[in-house]
Amino acid sequence: MTGPLTLVTGASSGIGAEIARQLSSSRRLLLGGRSAERLEAVRSSCERPESHRTWRWDLSDVPGIAASLEEALAGEVVDAFIHSAGTLELTAFRTMPTERMIGIFNVNYFSAVEIVRLLSRAALNQRALRNVILISSGASRVGEKGNAIYAASKGALNAFMRSLAIELAPRVRVNSILPGMVRTPMSEIALSRADAEAVIAANYPLGRGEPRDIAWLAEFLLSEKARWITGQEVVVDGGYTAHANHVS
Ligand SMILES: NC(=O)c1ccc[n+]([C@@H]2O[C@H](COP(=O)([O-])OP(=O)(O)OC[C@H]3O[C@@H](n4cnc5c(N)ncnc54)[C@H](OP(=O)(O)O)[C@@H]3O)[C@@H](O)[C@H]2O)c1
Repeated sequence: MTGPLTLVTGASSGIGAEIARQLSSSRRLLLGGRSAERLEAVRSSCERPESHRTWRWDLSDVPGIAASLEEALAGEVVDAFIHSAGTLELTAFRTMPTERMIGIFNVNYFSAVEIVRLLSRAALNQRALRNVILISSGASRVGEKGNAIYAASKGALNAFMRSLAIELAPRVRVNSILPGMVRTPMSEIALSRADAEAVIAANYPLGRGEPRDIAWLAEFLLSEKARWITGQEVVVDGGYTAHANHVS
């Protein structure tokens, strides 16, 4: 299989890994993450593993992304970018060290900005970019104790996405996906509570979601069927953010 690459950050785990597996039969993937071992495991679980490549980089090092991504592309181009890399720390805002706040923003927000900037450069990507999907969070819509910095980084992604959609139209469509809680290593602590299933049943009108619910939406947004959709925050959360009376 030939043609442009689809870059998926956060492809080594959870939602990003599921998106990679979902897209792997129809697209050539560049799978981003830090752990070579985890990236290899996901690549092997994809359809046609030999068609896909990996890109190992710690996205908290934003200035280093340019050289590392250029090396990973090795002259190939990217027509779709999905930013699923993310880091979460549930900590009271007043006790979080500034360094950690910056670290969360670097991975969740600034690395995506830098990657889009690089992929928009004709010299690096030959005007190949057509689609950007930023994995945001329902946390950008609802308040929760201990979540202020993570939520702010996801709100920044949504605001960036809207202006970018206007700036890059009509060649590139840009959208964000706002997932509710699905089972991945990131949500493991919340879902390991003894009463987790009862809390989900009370708060999610459609019950528990899965990473594939997010991957299906990503696949749709990349497709021609979404050709008239840009600049949107698309919520996929089983009705969580529509529900007025949350139980904690
Ligand atoms: N799970 C949920 O309920 C939920 C709900 C709403 C939104 N989200 C969002 O969905 C996205 C995916 O989350 P997930 O649930 O799939 O979490 P996950 O299983 O913990 O995966 C996080 C991914 O981000 C990558 N990552 C983290 N820090 C990185 C760094 N410094 N440099 C490069 N990559 C880094 C990880 O790579 P390594 O393998 O290198 O660690 C991993 O591939 C995140 O943006 C998250 O905020 C998740």
